[in-house]
Amino acid sequence: MIPAARLAHLRPSPIRALSEGAPPDAVPMGLGEPGWDLPLPAVEALARFSGPCAYGPNAGLPELQEAVGAFHGTPARDVLLTAGSQGALFALTQAYAEPGDAVLVPDPGFLAYPALARIAGAEPVPYPLGPGFGLDADLFRAALDAAPRARLALVNHPGNPTGAGCSRAALAEVAEACARRGVLLVSDEVYRDLRLGDPAPSLRDVTQGGIVLGSVSKAWGAPGLRVGWALGEAPLLAPARLVHAYMVTAPARTSQLAALALVRESGAVLAQAREHLRARWEAFSEAFARHFGQVPQHGAGGFYHWLALPPGADPMPFCLRLRDEGRVVVVPGQAFGERGRGFVRLSYAGDPALIREGVRRLAPFWSTP
Ligand SMILES: Cc1ncc(COP(=O)(O)O)c(C=O)c1O
Repeated sequence: MIPAARLAHLRPSPIRALSEGAPPDAVPMGLGEPGWDLPLPAVEALARFSGPCAYGPNAGLPELQEAVGAFHGTPARDVLLTAGSQGALFALTQAYAEPGDAVLVPDPGFLAYPALARIAGAEPVPYPLGPGFGLDADLFRAALDAAPRARLALVNHPGNPTGAGCSRAALAEVAEACARRGVLLVSDEVYRDLRLGDPAPSLRDVTQGGIVLGSVSKAWGAPGLRVGWALGEAPLLAPARLVHAYMVTAPARTSQLAALALVRESGAVLAQAREHLRARWEAFSEAFARHFGQVPQHGAGGFYHWLALPPGADPMPFCLRLRDEGRVVVVPGQAFGERGRGFVRLSYAGDPALIREGVRRLAPFWSTP
């Protein structure tokens, strides 16, 4: 059998591929998921569960819609609950991108964006980021102007893989440019609550239009629950809700109950997540300063460090050497787009002692590449 032609460009995620071939004692600095324990409210909610495990409404549990809406200051009807924010991204690209349309994606950016555009039959159009990899309204507008068939545009801040954010002004200009062109703007803010300083701006600070994505996977420490959401006006979400219902019926009930406990206890859960993040950042930055001789800067949020390759390093063979000789798994920057080619992404989401050890093992490859 021949698979559908629109899947021809799809490849397994290089993040998984690099992790799967790693030596058993390799330090994992590849995967972007919290390394701390599932917070207690979710553990208790899972332990309390009893009775029939029914599908529940396609739209998800009303009490979780309420809780997510209350967290964001949004009416419950404007919340679409999904199987991770990835479920929302899938449903939105299917709902809004036609074959032949263009979907604007950041470069470097989360590698699911171009893949999901392609699964919808659309063409991902990478747009460059500004100095320091923040959102740059002029560069975004230039890419939009050059894409007459643009239907959807994705922004991600704080960003994966760089941790960079965006200014409120840039976000407002990008939102206005999309509104003028009738392009649906999706603002992926899944790392927004995982920060050390002040909260980064949200699309909701500048407009009620477009769609905001959130998830319990990062700041609420529960990627394995697979619960995320999209926020937007109910009619805008309606087609995506239908796609999502046909894809998975509804997010898993037990996961939603655990997510409900987490979101209701957001004050304590997010404060604790910031402590976990701080401990990891301290471990990473101290080790980096010691072994690389440079003081790294924390980004707008998340747990990634975007590190330039040593001059002349050939990215993929270099990352394989880091893995097999250095025994540290990292992700080559080109996995996130052509403009990521000269970089690697280090994740410091794991155990602080391992992060220190990982940085120690990496450093010699930068002094003698
Ligand atoms: C920028 C970004 N958006 C969305 C996701 C998907 O997360 P989830 O489906 O777990 O909510 C990820 C996961 O790494 C991500 O980095």
